[in-house]
Amino acid sequence: MSQVKDMGLASQGRNKIEWAADHMPVLMKIRDEFQQTKPLNGAKVGFALHVTKETAVLVETLIAGGAEVAITGCNPLSTQDDVAAALAKEGVDVYAWRGETNQEYYDNINKVLDHKPQITIDDGADLIFTVHKKRTELLDEIMGGCEETTTGIIRLRAMEKDNALKYPVMATNDADTKHMFDNHYGTGQSTIDGILRATSVLFAGKNVVVAGYGWCGRGVAARAEGMGSNVIVTEVDPTLALRAAMDGHRVMSMDEAAALGDIFITVTGDRDIIMRKHFDKMKSGAVVANAGHFNIEIDTEGLDEITKEKKDIRDNVTQHTLMDERKIYLLAEGRLVNLAAAEGHPSEVMDMSFANQALASKYVWENKLEAQVHRIPKEIDERVAKMKLDTMGVEIDKLTDAQRKYLESWEEGT
Ligand code: ADE
Repeated sequence: MSQVKDMGLASQGRNKIEWAADHMPVLMKIRDEFQQTKPLNGAKVGFALHVTKETAVLVETLIAGGAEVAITGCNPLSTQDDVAAALAKEGVDVYAWRGETNQEYYDNINKVLDHKPQITIDDGADLIFTVHKKRTELLDEIMGGCEETTTGIIRLRAMEKDNALKYPVMATNDADTKHMFDNHYGTGQSTIDGILRATSVLFAGKNVVVAGYGWCGRGVAARAEGMGSNVIVTEVDPTLALRAAMDGHRVMSMDEAAALGDIFITVTGDRDIIMRKHFDKMKSGAVVANAGHFNIEIDTEGLDEITKEKKDIRDNVTQHTLMDERKIYLLAEGRLVNLAAAEGHPSEVMDMSFANQALASKYVWENKLEAQVHRIPKEIDERVAKMKLDTMGVEIDKLTDAQRKYLESWEEGT
């Protein structure tokens, strides 16, 4: 029995899902194929993904392929309640609503696990971790999992290294057609989208501090720069810092950037990025947002300690008036701003991410894999790229026989 906020929102959610499906042509092609061949016949699939219109298109694709699905969210603030209602109305087991407490969040993860999934699909790996830590009785039945995000994969690789990973997991994030697009263009656009929907501040002429210059940080920095901001990057990785510098951004420590920034965006995937000592230096009016998976990048407790008065001044904007009268604006409680204050990445980019998820689920179901973190096979990645180009009407050159031979040989020199 599903648990969602309001079944009355189902028809609004259905419209959104239809809109997403119309902008996800690759996934819809895969759905047609799944409909014919039923590759997931009888598979029980448990999801912990952001419950968005794009995720709904993925869920319905796996159902078309013969799967039975139970789903919860992967962040307490990212569920789109209308979409959750629309899925529940179609008979999907949904346990998700926006604004879950921590306890409710984990209760919902457990409710999905009560369905005894044979495949887990995660964004942040909370289903996998809960199975390994608390629900080990389920391990025997699980064929494998798929993980969507960088953060989840970092933790899964740590588990693999410690021999603690008990079932195979496909690293969907590591597919080129995922991270080169979703992380870069998706996070780049949706993060700015979230900040704009929450605040409607002007980006032109502002100092935008981007913490982290991985695929996501580069996307955010590029978009902010395109809107006329002066981008400052903070990094711990020397190569990425060098790249940021050569991309034309100022690079410095957060200690230094704290006093300069007008808008701060954390996108590192790590913890403790903007701390109380940084809030101590910020200009009055600074806007602070996180686009990393977990809400541990910004020290919200430290901010509370120096706050005199706290007020929700707009949707997803908390105004902190500090003891010294400066005002700091924290967005979406420090949770991922692109999903909490906007709708997450655009459907067109999730099209590729979720095409990989659909094909990876099929792969896990059809192959008996070792309990390791597995790369998405190159054929899947290339197929997704080709299908996307096709749907965009883009034709590309093909290698000639001579070119292929040249690339495959070592004899030819100058
Ligand atoms: N992650 C980022 N954007 C998303 C979206 N639109 N749907 C699901 N997961 C996401």
